[in-house]
Amino acid sequence: MDEAIKENIGLEINNISRFFEIDSGELKVLNNINLDVRPGEFVSIVGKSGCGKSTLLKLIVGLDKSTQGEIRIGSRLVDKPSIECGMVFQEARLYPWLTVEKNIEFGISGKVDNEKKERIAEYIALVGLTGFEKAYPAQLSGGMQQRASIARALIGRPKVLLLDEPFGALDAFTRINMQNEILRIWEHEKRTMLLVTHDIDEAIFLSDRIVILSERPGKIKEIIPVNLPRPRDRSNNLFLEIRKKILISFLGNSELNIEYYI
Ligand SMILES: Nc1ncnc2c1ncn2[C@@H]1O[C@H](COP(=O)(O)OP(=O)(O)O)[C@@H](O)[C@H]1O
Ligand SMILES: [Mg+2]
Repeated sequence: MDEAIKENIGLEINNISRFFEIDSGELKVLNNINLDVRPGEFVSIVGKSGCGKSTLLKLIVGLDKSTQGEIRIGSRLVDKPSIECGMVFQEARLYPWLTVEKNIEFGISGKVDNEKKERIAEYIALVGLTGFEKAYPAQLSGGMQQRASIARALIGRPKVLLLDEPFGALDAFTRINMQNEILRIWEHEKRTMLLVTHDIDEAIFLSDRIVILSERPGKIKEIIPVNLPRPRDRSNNLFLEIRKKILISFLGNSELNIEYYI
């Protein structure tokens, strides 16, 4: 086993519920979620809008507190954010007064020496932003801003990386490029990744397992393993069979015109 794998850590979600107090009473968003993610595993979470996916990631990264249950990253009980767990949010969240380069620099701690400068350039190239180092967020498209925020999360090499619909704002081609890059990084460093996505093909392309959440309050409805060699061919029959299984889990057999979807 190489060093990167040995160093890696997993994630334990034990009995997590999150209820919000709102004007009309209590809003039950997540109900009794149990999930273990192995060190180095790639798990995707899919579920309808509003079922609590972002809420779950915020609990894992330590930005919110659960009503019930506990989360562990490695052996550490999560009660606040920590550098070992990084997150890419649905929206870019860049500092508008800093350039692309300076925003990405925020993802690494300590003094910026030559080695770190090289690393910044490497990650800017990785997300296809070479030439835009000195640009400010307002001068970039939404997709470019999101790519800068992905570089900022990756550059700190967190052991667990949470991705909340990170490619939603990207065009189809950039999206596929970014999926390939994430796969390459994951295969190289084997860090633990948890991806929330609406894109079923994206989940199948990347994941070891796909967790399907029910409508609010989000519960785990089904976990579908994807035992296909990587890189995966999106037109392969086994790939399409898994897609069908996921669609049936969402829509039920009767509403699914299978011919249409595959
Ligand atoms: N801080 C909060 N206070 C009250 N309700 C919240 C809060 N955060 C999220 N919610 C509600 O929880 C539900 C799930 O939100 P979210 O986790 O963002 O869904 P998803 O990411 O699956 O689309 C929504 O109905 C949302 O309005
Ligand atoms: Mg969300």
